[in-house]
Amino acid sequence: MQRVGVVGWPVEHSRSPVIFGHWFAVHGIDARYERIAVAPDEAAAFFADLASSPYTGVNVTMPYKALAAESVSADPVATRLGVANTIWRDGDGLSGSSSDGSGFIASLDDQAPDWRGAVGPAVIVGAGGASVAVADALVAEGCRVLVANRTADKAEAVAARAGAEAIALDALPDALSEASLLVNATSLGMDGTTLSVDPRPLPAGTTVADLIYNPLETPLLAAARARGLVPVDGLGMLLFQATTGFERWFGVKPKVDRDLRRLVSATL
Ligand code: ATR
Repeated sequence: MQRVGVVGWPVEHSRSPVIFGHWFAVHGIDARYERIAVAPDEAAAFFADLASSPYTGVNVTMPYKALAAESVSADPVATRLGVANTIWRDGDGLSGSSSDGSGFIASLDDQAPDWRGAVGPAVIVGAGGASVAVADALVAEGCRVLVANRTADKAEAVAARAGAEAIALDALPDALSEASLLVNATSLGMDGTTLSVDPRPLPAGTTVADLIYNPLETPLLAAARARGLVPVDGLGMLLFQATTGFERWFGVKPKVDRDLRRLVSATL
């Protein structure tokens, strides 16, 4: 039996075993997906020894994504972002990538296929790790990307790393009035807190994506839906980012279908 898993501290909350368990069953693969809890004082040794471990490959979550990128041969995306969440065997060594950005784009393609015809800028609110991955991926797709954040310095840092533009929070309503895509990349909404972004200035047809997946329909997405805009939930990104590891480790691209969405939604 092959062994894969997610490395983090803590990792008990991870839904990845459910996602991968579904794909193992669909593809008839004899493998186990483990939650690998690695304490901070053991993390450097874990990654140093990973190539000689029994694992076919691993996902990496907080707080080890930067350490992972330093510990393996980072692909261009992981190099640009300075983080890796997916590690696979590559000859005698290990390679790594960050699949959050590609997962986000795949989720947009799935839930809002018309987003590619959009002409206005993409506006991202929030400037943490998820924000920079999404900004980088949208820039790579040829979008003009504007980043706004409560702490302006962090918006500047994300914009500089991703090739986007930082804007002040008070410039947000104007930016939204010409946007084709709005992304909530703040942590607001996790606890049901309403995001203080007013979707009213958004033009008709705008896609509104939330990276939060619990609740599945955040207050922002509910407001967008009520206005007839195109909502994209955060569950899609969670599921699509996982396809990268599965494909690297087992050589087949798994599907994100209704059954998987239902299965993972039931755990939220
Ligand atoms: P992740 O790595 O998951 O993207 P993070 O690094 O914790 O998450 O980033 C959280 C984001 O939510 C940040 O942009 C944060 O704003 P600051 O950079 O100003 O901290 C934003 N955020 C969290 N609570 C917020 C609040 N009450 N109002 C506005 N923004 C908030």
